[in-house]
Amino acid sequence: MDSVKIALTVNGRRHEREVEPRRLLSDFLREDLRLTGTHLACEHGVCGSCTILMNGQTARSCLTFAVMADGAEITTIEGLGSVENMHPLQAAFWEKHGLQCGFCTPGMLMSALELLRENPDASSEEIHQALAGNLCRCTGYQTIVEAVEAAAETMRGAER
Ligand code: FES
Ligand code: FES
Repeated sequence: MDSVKIALTVNGRRHEREVEPRRLLSDFLREDLRLTGTHLACEHGVCGSCTILMNGQTARSCLTFAVMADGAEITTIEGLGSVENMHPLQAAFWEKHGLQCGFCTPGMLMSALELLRENPDASSEEIHQALAGNLCRCTGYQTIVEAVEAAAETMRGAER
């Protein structure tokens, strides 16, 4: 199959690559750009592990072809923060024990980020709803919701 040239920005850095039209965005990010923080589990749109932001909106990268991201701004977990400089969501997940094995965490953080950008005062119920498409096999979800509530408080304080 003929390759197609795409140009996109990932975590603030521009990339131009040739990809096969059938190449998934998840594989493109993980294998071509070596951004392995985006995780793959179900690979058919159910678990939310592969969630990234595409032009500010969450997307399942396992259901998105790389060519669909041509011209897009992508944010992956690597663009959120670093060990030295954690985003408030990352710090809150750490402090509130919002993760155990951590496999679901990158996708959870991306969904939570989208929520808090759109709704900084999200209620516990709204957080539950926003994360309903992200499955976690470890935590029981309560600590995740508490972590998002704590991050929301920090982010609101930072904006004041
Ligand atoms: S790996 Fe994409 S939704 Fe599960
Ligand atoms: S922390 Fe293990 S799957 Fe969520």
